Amino acid sequence: MSRFVRIFNTSVGCKAVMALTGFALVLFVIQHCIANLQIYKGQDAMNTYAATLKSLGPLLWVARGGLLAVFALHIYCGIRLNRLNMAARKDRYQFNAFVQEDPLAQARVRAATFMFLTGVLVLLFVVYHLAHFTFGWIKADAFQLKDSEGRHDVYSMFILGFQNPLISITYILMMLVLAAHLLHGFSSAFQSLGWNHAAFNKLVRYGCPAVVMVIILLNIMMPFTILFLGFPSLPSAGG
Ligand code: HEM
Repeated sequence: MSRFVRIFNTSVGCKAVMALTGFALVLFVIQHCIANLQIYKGQDAMNTYAATLKSLGPLLWVARGGLLAVFALHIYCGIRLNRLNMAARKDRYQFNAFVQEDPLAQARVRAATFMFLTGVLVLLFVVYHLAHFTFGWIKADAFQLKDSEGRHDVYSMFILGFQNPLISITYILMMLVLAAHLLHGFSSAFQSLGWNHAAFNKLVRYGCPAVVMVIILLNIMMPFTILFLGFPSLPSAGG
C-alpha cells in the first residue's frame, strides 16, 4: 500500500483530505456566486458568460470532472469519518466514559454529527440544483429557451425558475443550511490541517465567517429580488 493511501485511510488523513477538498469547494462556491451575479447585468451578459463557458469544450469537461472528483472525495471522507465516529460510539462504555470526562470531546462529537447532517442536506441540494439548471429536468420548458442570437437563454431560465415561490424558498432555505455547514467547516479546515499560528488565528476566526456570510447573502439575494421585487425581470417585460 502506498504511503498516501495509508495516510488517507487514517482518520487524521481523512480529515486533511476533507479540509483540502473543502477549501476547493469554498473557492468554487465563491467563483460560482460571482459568475451568477451577471444576472444583474442583463440577458446579454449572462448568456455570453454561459456561452463562453460552453465554448471551452473539452476544457470545461476537465473542470467538471475535477469538481466532481473533489466533491466525491469530500463526501467519501465525510462518510468514512462518520462511520469511525459511529464505531467509537458502539463501544458505549469506553466512549461514554471518555466523552463525559471531556467537554471538548463532547463538542467535537456534536460538531461532527452536525457537519454530517448539514453535509447530506447540501448534497441533496446540489442534486436538485443540477436537475434544475444543468439537466433541465425541473421546469424543462424554461430550459429549452433560446435568446435572439440562438444561444441557451440561461438568463430567462434563471428568472423563470426563481419566479416560482416553491423553488425560490427552497433555494433560500438551502442557502441557510449551506451557511451552517460552511460557518463551522471553513474555519475548522484550518484546524484540521494544523494551520493555527497565533498571528493568523484571529483572521481565520473572523475572516472565514465573514466570507461565508457575504457569499450566502449574495446567493440569497438572487432568488429574493426575483421573487419579491420582480428584479431582474424577463426581457419581454422590459428587463
Ligand atoms: C442562489 C444560488 C445559486 C444560483 C442562482 C445558481 C445558479 C446556477 C446556474 C444558472 C447554473 C447553470 C449554469 C449554466 O448552465 O451555464 C448552475 C450550475 C451549477 N451550480 Fe449553481 N447556483 C447557486 C448555488 C450553487 C451552490 C451553493 C452550489 C454548490 C454547493 C452550486 C453548484 C453548481 C454546479 C456544480 C453547477 C454545474 C456547473 C456545470 O454545469 O459545469 N450552485 N448554478
